Amino acid sequence: MKMTRRAFCAGLAAVPLARPAQAQDMALLTAKAATVQLAPGGYPATPVWSYDWTIPGPVIRAAQGSRLERRLMNTLEVPTSVHWHGIRIDNAMDGVAGLTQNAVPPGESFDYAFKLPDAGTYWYHAHTNSMEQVARGLSGALIIEEATPPDVDRDEVLMIDDWLIDPDTGLFIDNFAAPMLRSHGGQIGNLVGVNGRYDYRLSARQNERLRVRLINSANARIFGLKLEGLTGWKVALDGMPLDTPEPVTDTLVLAPAQRMDLIVDVIAAEGETAGLLFAAADDTWRVLADVSVDGRAASVPRGAPQPLPRNPRMEVVGVDAAPVLEMPLQGGAMRGLESATFNGQRLGWQELVEKGQYWALAGQAGLGDTPLATLSRGETARIRTTNDTIFPHAMHLHGMHFRVRRADGRLGPLRDTVLVMPNETTEIAFVADNPGKWLLHCHMLGHAASGMTNWIMVT
Ligand code: C2O
Ligand code: CU
Repeated sequence: MKMTRRAFCAGLAAVPLARPAQAQDMALLTAKAATVQLAPGGYPATPVWSYDWTIPGPVIRAAQGSRLERRLMNTLEVPTSVHWHGIRIDNAMDGVAGLTQNAVPPGESFDYAFKLPDAGTYWYHAHTNSMEQVARGLSGALIIEEATPPDVDRDEVLMIDDWLIDPDTGLFIDNFAAPMLRSHGGQIGNLVGVNGRYDYRLSARQNERLRVRLINSANARIFGLKLEGLTGWKVALDGMPLDTPEPVTDTLVLAPAQRMDLIVDVIAAEGETAGLLFAAADDTWRVLADVSVDGRAASVPRGAPQPLPRNPRMEVVGVDAAPVLEMPLQGGAMRGLESATFNGQRLGWQELVEKGQYWALAGQAGLGDTPLATLSRGETARIRTTNDTIFPHAMHLHGMHFRVRRADGRLGPLRDTVLVMPNETTEIAFVADNPGKWLLHCHMLGHAASGMTNWIMVT
């Protein structure tokens, strides 16, 4: 008898299974409490919230144009959801609790299944009480591969993070709602690391060519980065290829949630130092990822790399004629707010502070019933953010990438998160080609949780 798939499944159902039968239909991503050694040996291990037991979660790789399917199993004691940061995704799969789905209660699951239109470096993270859940470890890299990958010897994902840990107990310092942090620059960790390790190291050979995918998954830290013993080109930002690879000449700045793909050549010889350095608070350069050079891959370095293949729909057209929406960024320590709308009420600064709201986007603190803007599908939109606060903000739009429109009208690279410095005005322009409810928020997660979150509607 030829066994059909149906018969096979029916046959299996008769025997007791260790896992629920449905679990075979879809790969799992389990949100799970775990204990991980984040601090150096000799310090206690840290209880974390993980995806599949590791910090960061597993690197998920999929082919451009394919569908990604994951069943989120929530075994935590708190509700959660997963956001697939930077994917131009079907709105129902965007993972924003309270806007695109209900948070998944403890013990329950949610099926994420969506198409992957773009190749590039993305990431996934919790989007329910993100300030705490991402800080406790709920994030991972999401790599969408080009049909024809660039000519490199290796592909390395470096997920850069910081953790705020009590060295005596190993516990995360539970100050996630602390007004002092939320109203200032956000939660900055006391331990910095890559891929869950404070002492991340790679080995490489001289003249080897690596694709390095940098992801900043920190809650609030803006990383200043520098290459040592390596030379390279920027080839993509926030997943999207640059038209021309740009040689890395000075400090690279990576704000929370931003990604940067580099193609680097190892120029250091065997025994010389190489790696990725970060600017510490005391203005010294410290090692973030150490590259030990063993042997030689080729006798001569290679020439400049080709640009990565373009993704679809990268053009932003009709920008000059598009209407401009003003979105001042306001509030925070030292400046405060005269008033803002919160839960449908106009409140003064003191009342906002009592409700834990320190920030506003265009006069609105937190999500309101009505969007900041309603756009019709296909329309080009411009949003002008003027930073009236004394802090930098990493502004992120869900569902669509944008280009920064410079003062002279020229457009910058396509990306999904832009760093807006104090007293700076940054205008973003995008084609509203993805229908649904899309969040627009600061990715300093403490800011997002205390006012800096709004949404737009595309109909
Ligand atoms: Cu990285 Cu609202 O997301
Ligand atoms: Cu902010």
